Amino acid sequence: MVHNGIIENYDELKAELQADGHEFTSDTDTEVVPHLIEDAMAAGHDFEAAFRAAVSRLEGSYALAAVTADAEAILATRRDSPLVVGVGDDAAYLASDVPAFLEFTDRVVYLEDGEFARLESGSWTVTDDEGLLLEKSVSRVEWDAEETAKSGYDHYMLKEIHEQPRSLRQCLRDRVDELTGSVDVEALEGLSPKSVQFVACGTSYHAACYGAHALREAGVPSQAFLASEYATAPAPVSEETLVVGITQSGETADTLAALRQAERRGVETLAMTNVVGSTAARECDRTLFIRAGPEIGVAATKTFSSQVVACNLLSAAIAERSDAREVVGALRDLPGQVQELLDESHAEAVADRFLDSDGYFFIGREYHHPVALEGALKMKEITYKHAEGFPAGELKHGPLALVTEETPVFAVVTGDGETAQKTIGNVKEVEARDAPVVAVTDGVSEVGRYAEEVLEIPETHPRVAPMLANVQLQLVAYYVAKKLGRSIDKPRNLAKSVTVE
Ligand code: AGP
Repeated sequence: MVHNGIIENYDELKAELQADGHEFTSDTDTEVVPHLIEDAMAAGHDFEAAFRAAVSRLEGSYALAAVTADAEAILATRRDSPLVVGVGDDAAYLASDVPAFLEFTDRVVYLEDGEFARLESGSWTVTDDEGLLLEKSVSRVEWDAEETAKSGYDHYMLKEIHEQPRSLRQCLRDRVDELTGSVDVEALEGLSPKSVQFVACGTSYHAACYGAHALREAGVPSQAFLASEYATAPAPVSEETLVVGITQSGETADTLAALRQAERRGVETLAMTNVVGSTAARECDRTLFIRAGPEIGVAATKTFSSQVVACNLLSAAIAERSDAREVVGALRDLPGQVQELLDESHAEAVADRFLDSDGYFFIGREYHHPVALEGALKMKEITYKHAEGFPAGELKHGPLALVTEETPVFAVVTGDGETAQKTIGNVKEVEARDAPVVAVTDGVSEVGRYAEEVLEIPETHPRVAPMLANVQLQLVAYYVAKKLGRSIDKPRNLAKSVTVE
């Protein structure tokens, strides 16, 4: 039995099975399923009928696959948890996500909730909950196997950081008109909401914060919500609200719950996702694919930068801006600038210097605020060290009490406008407390004068700079984790797709 998800009524089922003499050997919720199957087979059902009978007793979310020692088939089903069938020439595959079998086949059948799959060597069938055969279409995914190999890199995370020039180009391809600064994305055609609400989790939430800021700046009321909060405490909507779910995997349970919440209230939904065929892509009214290619490392890297680019596309489609042409020009130059940064970054030396620090703080204002949040998340996720990101102005409202010479502060500052000057004021505050400052900055800002280390980024439009700054912070987190010997691609306690609420 393989199970992804949570069987919510397992206590009750376990008690019932134990009363009937079943002996459990683990504390997992999963174990009730094979016992239920055993029970049904003892009552005379064949394996398939027993599997269906067992599943009919379950409450919760699950992707399940079952096999017996002498069975010729693998049986599988799903509810609120992803499950895909890979179709090979002489084999069939079952996985939660396509990259797992991409090495063997690029043909995929997406299972819906309540459908049952039966896999035998080289053949597969899908039936509904009553056993009726369904005609499922086979989709071909555009990703190729090479994209899911490490290609000489020590970790997928490093490979994916280095793939950003390419993934950003893919995200922009055929979507922007450099002459007019307009965007041409089919999924966004005719979109004219009066307000936008973003729902997302983790890294995708940070991209959502960026997107909401971009729209607000263009005069469209917009907010980013953590999906897990929105699912139970949604914000008021009108008929002209658009709810955008940002989700790399398209399978994050909290984000799906928030999007379903929006759908129930009759508003238009848009999925901004990386995975064609994912649940979010299938359930939302519109879909904007970020085209980042498969991301294997649990820590999201290239998908964040593509999400931020996609937020720019979305914002340009919804609201006219006087600087549209400049932004498009800057986006066009972005992949090359990321490459330049990757070639020249000395983030590894910075990581070396601050390896033993007690904790790390990340500050930035406005468009750099999401980068500060993301820099801290990357750091804590893969190094297991304490890291916090917040808007620079919040520093003196509490976090400053934690700032010491053992807590480097990464300050993201670009340009020389009022916002940059204010952040420099905050930098001086931490410097006065002897905290080492690492400035992530362009050649314009004078923040470097107050910093012990400078991580430079190429000069660009203020809306594009955050993506470059973020790449420097990705590299710092990566090298700290590497030097500490952490499990970078699979950090403890974390999963790539969080398919339970
Ligand atoms: C990012 O590094 C994390 N692994 C995590 O925060 C992730 O972004 C979050 O779980 C949301 O995932 P999604 O984009 O697939 O919805």
